[in-house]
Amino acid sequence: MPLSARPEIRPATGKLGILTPGMGAVATTFMAGVEAIRRGISKPIGSLTQMGTIRLGKRTEGRSPLIKEFVPLAGLDQIVFGGWDLFPDDAYLAATKAGVLSREHLGEVKDFLSTIKPMTPVFDQEYVKKLTATHAKKGKSKADLAEQVQDDIKRFKADNGCDRLVMVWCGSTEVYRSPGAVHASLAAFEKGLAESDPEIAPSQIYAYAALKCGVPYANGAPNLTVDTPALLELAKAKGVAVTGKDFKTGQTLMKTILAPGFKARLLGVEGWYSTNILGNRDGEVLDDPESFKSKEVSKLGSLEHIFQPHLYPDLYGHMAHVVRINYYPPRGDNKEGWDNIDIFGWMGYPMQIKVNFLCRDSILAAPIVLDLALFMDLAQRCGMSGIQEWLSFYWKSPQTAPGLYPEHDLFIQLMKLKNTLRHLRGEELITHLGAEYYD
Ligand SMILES: NC(=O)c1ccc[n+]([C@@H]2O[C@H](COP(=O)([O-])OP(=O)(O)OC[C@H]3O[C@@H](n4cnc5c(N)ncnc54)[C@H](O)[C@@H]3O)[C@@H](O)[C@H]2O)c1
Repeated sequence: MPLSARPEIRPATGKLGILTPGMGAVATTFMAGVEAIRRGISKPIGSLTQMGTIRLGKRTEGRSPLIKEFVPLAGLDQIVFGGWDLFPDDAYLAATKAGVLSREHLGEVKDFLSTIKPMTPVFDQEYVKKLTATHAKKGKSKADLAEQVQDDIKRFKADNGCDRLVMVWCGSTEVYRSPGAVHASLAAFEKGLAESDPEIAPSQIYAYAALKCGVPYANGAPNLTVDTPALLELAKAKGVAVTGKDFKTGQTLMKTILAPGFKARLLGVEGWYSTNILGNRDGEVLDDPESFKSKEVSKLGSLEHIFQPHLYPDLYGHMAHVVRINYYPPRGDNKEGWDNIDIFGWMGYPMQIKVNFLCRDSILAAPIVLDLALFMDLAQRCGMSGIQEWLSFYWKSPQTAPGLYPEHDLFIQLMKLKNTLRHLRGEELITHLGAEYYD
């Protein structure tokens, strides 16, 4: 159904299964946090679906319900978790090794996390050079592997009595690939699966299996997955929602907060140099130049689109934008990012801004996984299939219709998201014109 038509919303009854290929730092921090919130130990900080409000009608009306009360989202008590990983550790052990949450916090949800055991993954060393799987599916072909993932999905749904499922990729960043002939159509892709075409990545096998089962798919990493004609064709044919890609967490979040401000004030930018040190498994994977390339392409896009140098050549036409990531084990998940921004103002006088962000990657990513899962489930219950551009808010590289440039400005993304929710509920869209207050 096109978004322009206001859909009926199916109620969020029954259980919602959230499946994550990859049960590392992000996925286990997400699972532990949801359980801690359910037990009243934590608050859902950083989650728009849980803490955000939405203004309705005029500013004089005083109507600002919580988003979760305005649109029918699955409740946290309705969620069950499942996933796949290269390592057979249950979610408690994996979270302990990831080292994001304290022993004290993990201890409070240990009984729950220990019950979540990863299913056997689809893995191909060519796509993640730095990790070696301790267990992986074996199959006659990639088509066979896709069948096995579909079996996993169906079994998980039946065993857990789920009404609906969503899949959020939380697996490692795969090596950079651009779409090839095998991704050009669904027919080519299915032929490629049967022939085990080397250009089909594991993430694409999970995505294919999810879409075949009618399960919405969100891509948390920067690698190529549902942003291919083949998988978009399948999403459309099956009426399934897709979105991506690459969770917008640390440095890019800051960029998409700061850059719209500079542009709003017509301040020029001569250069923006970003570097990071991090020491988690994600950092180790990104230490491989081919996986880093996927990340670099994803990270570089945001400023280019916000500054629109073709419209503002005097301000942004010669900007140098450099991004570096260095693997530095002592830091673990507690990444440190530095940004040096060379800006210029009236008559071209230069100024500098330094940002030093001591961030916690998975703490920023976990609420994004929750929101995406709940909003993708909502989209699916509204019959909204294909690319969900209204969820650009969550992505470093928002997926859009082919030929349409992505919107990276965090504030425009939020307005778009909230207006989509207003539209779904038949409320007036907010344009901020405000003329009625002065008539
Ligand atoms: N943490 C953030 O802020 C952030 C932001 C944007 C994107 N991401 C992306 O999210 C993903 C997860 O990040 P993380 O910090 O949890 O990394 P992580 O290394 O802790 O976890 C990833 C897990 O995926 C597993 N994996 C790899 N290939 C797999 C496959 N084919 N099937 C099943 N499991 C597989 C690995 O064994 C690992 O346990 C990464 O791709 C990362 O780049 C993270």
